[in-house]
Amino acid sequence: MRGEQMQVIAIAAVADNGVIGSGDDMLWHIPEDFRRFKAVTMGHTLIFGRRTFEQIGKLPGRRHIVCTRDRSWSADGVDVAGSVPQAVAMARDAGEDVCYIAGGGQIYADGLELCTGLDITEVHQSPDGRARFPEISAEQWREVSREAHDGFDFVRYLPVVRAAGPVESLGEG
Ligand SMILES: NC(=O)c1ccc[n+]([C@@H]2O[C@H](COP(=O)([O-])OP(=O)(O)OC[C@H]3O[C@@H](n4cnc5c(N)ncnc54)[C@H](OP(=O)(O)O)[C@@H]3O)[C@@H](O)[C@H]2O)c1
Repeated sequence: MRGEQMQVIAIAAVADNGVIGSGDDMLWHIPEDFRRFKAVTMGHTLIFGRRTFEQIGKLPGRRHIVCTRDRSWSADGVDVAGSVPQAVAMARDAGEDVCYIAGGGQIYADGLELCTGLDITEVHQSPDGRARFPEISAEQWREVSREAHDGFDFVRYLPVVRAAGPVESLGEG
């Protein structure tokens, strides 16, 4: 069935100290990152938190699913979900091959465990800011590619796949 194997990718620009945002202020301006975000996500579904959506607005050529707990919230041309898992299920039910969790901090935190991959722009700055990307633990994520640029790297992660150890393979526990 289409959508059954859907990829769920968190896409974010993350400073060296984990910061991704400070209210409505832009922390950096990296045109290459904007271009790449557009190219990667075009034609696919973006999942946003309500705050991030209200900050950046609707982006052309992509379906938007906005997460909010406010049942009365709506915006033109936007689908609404009551949770991140519900938003992912909506994308899967529509037969998407891939959807992108596009922030902000609360939505990345809630969505990380659903992700099949991370597409991170590591920004080599350490600004002050309230919103953060959750820790990318080496126990759970392995780096599979890195493209270095001046002041930032494009980095991809996939989940660590653990081989069953002797105890697990014996079915103990
Ligand atoms: N650097 C990057 O790549 C990047 C990307 C995106 C955003 N950002 C930054 O991130 C910051 C915003 O992040 P944020 O954490 O403040 O807000 P956010 O994650 O964008 O949105 C938070 C809102 O989402 C809704 N929400 C959160 N958890 C939910 C859940 N489990 N179920 C349903 N709805 C839920 C709530 O909306 P209601 O209050 O309506 O219920 C909540 O107020 C901004 O500074 C922005 O610039 C950075």
